[in-house]
Amino acid sequence: MSAESLKQKAAEAALDYVKPGMKLGLGTGSTANFFIKALGKKVANGFDVICVPTSIASQELAASLNIPLTTLDDTPALDLVVDGADELDAELNLIKGGGGALLREKIVAAASSQMVVIADDSKLVDFLGAYPLPVEVVPFGAAATIHMMKAAIKSAGASGAIRQRNNIDGTAFITDGGHYIYDCALAKIENPKQLAKNLNLIPGVVEHGLFIGLSKVAILATENGIKKIEL
Ligand code: A5P
Repeated sequence: MSAESLKQKAAEAALDYVKPGMKLGLGTGSTANFFIKALGKKVANGFDVICVPTSIASQELAASLNIPLTTLDDTPALDLVVDGADELDAELNLIKGGGGALLREKIVAAASSQMVVIADDSKLVDFLGAYPLPVEVVPFGAAATIHMMKAAIKSAGASGAIRQRNNIDGTAFITDGGHYIYDCALAKIENPKQLAKNLNLIPGVVEHGLFIGLSKVAILATENGIKKIEL
């Protein structure tokens, strides 16, 4: 089965967690897009739900499917967010932000009572870090922030190259919030909690892609069917 079909299977399995009347966060990325499309079909059949998207891209997709949308300003507490991940470990520590939407994704996840992660099973790893960790940084003083990030990474026992994310035309990638993304190629993050804490202490770091303790359920699609991790 192709990776795309597996993503779709995981996304569709997450519909079991969506109950009528829920206030729902909509994730970002190719797997989350499958979920939004599947939800759109339910909504077209009269299903009642109201959603907060985690990116402009997800907002546009959901709006095109006539999914009722709101904002965290009008609806500050959500029942559930369904979102993809770039990597997850067995404790459901995640790396997110491959699509650059990590800040809104984390705000929405923190505002939700539950987070269900959807992915194909290639995203499940023993140790996070093979996927470069995205860190969202304020443009002002970015070089100083990178300098501090290197120390923070070292003190959490990790190391690796830090690269600014660019668009295909070579210009700096700018997030929905107007910030830069730096991708940290750390290979293996042995202590994600410590690294998350260290990065959180740096003023120029807006957020990072380590999602720790935010999710208790992951739905992974495998060649042999759906596998769930429930903490
Ligand atoms: C978006 O910023 C990311 O956090 C995505 O959720 C993550 O990159 C997973 O994306 P895919 O579902 O496209 O792999």
